[in-house]
Amino acid sequence: MTQGTAHIQPNGKKIAKTVLMPGDPLRAKYIAENFLENVEQFNEVRNMFGYTGTYKGKEVSVMGSGMGIPSIGIYSYELYNFFDVDTIIRIGSCGALQDNVNLYDIIIAQGASTNSDYVDQYNLPGHFAPLADFDLVAKAKAQADNLGAVTHVGNILSSDTFYNADETFNARWQRMGILGIEMESAALYLNATHANKKALGIFTVSDHILRNEATTPEERQNSFTQMMEVALEIAD
Ligand code: HPA
Repeated sequence: MTQGTAHIQPNGKKIAKTVLMPGDPLRAKYIAENFLENVEQFNEVRNMFGYTGTYKGKEVSVMGSGMGIPSIGIYSYELYNFFDVDTIIRIGSCGALQDNVNLYDIIIAQGASTNSDYVDQYNLPGHFAPLADFDLVAKAKAQADNLGAVTHVGNILSSDTFYNADETFNARWQRMGILGIEMESAALYLNATHANKKALGIFTVSDHILRNEATTPEERQNSFTQMMEVALEIAD
């Protein structure tokens, strides 16, 4: 295990085997302050805050990923390959693409389709399907059902564009059953697969892309808490 990288400098602080990754580093701080005990900060390079603490006695870390595939690509690669992390659970928000998916629902991303070229680095003779770890998917679904959350399990899109010039973009992905759009999970799943580690993305629906609906941050709090409870309960 390395002492530190250009992007993660723990300075002797511990990083747990399981890391929860919201996009926003201030979200990581909020989670550490409100959901964890015995918290120590292990990273502040580029303000990409990372913390390690305990949840019901289990050691868990939480760290921001930043927005987009290149950013989560760097942090998750380093956590898996240089810091002995086994599991990364991305906790984020996504825009819904299907009629039966509503604001505040939870999406468990079994697969992450993408318009990114990230997979090209493996030089595969075909099209790879980035998948979440099955045990994590099954545990997350059981836990979400337990909490009474409305949950959808399936394929999401990790898009390189938030604003896409092609006006048919969303409808074409919708036609293929994509539940929602975010911008990171495909790289996380690819890094996990290549490192022989585990990953999962869990999302609250923050907006509905086709119906043009959006939530306010205050309204998101309840579904955010449900998503957090799912992620923390399945962390081991
Ligand atoms: N697109 C991409 N990423 C997102 C969205 C979206 O509509 N909503 C939340 N993250």
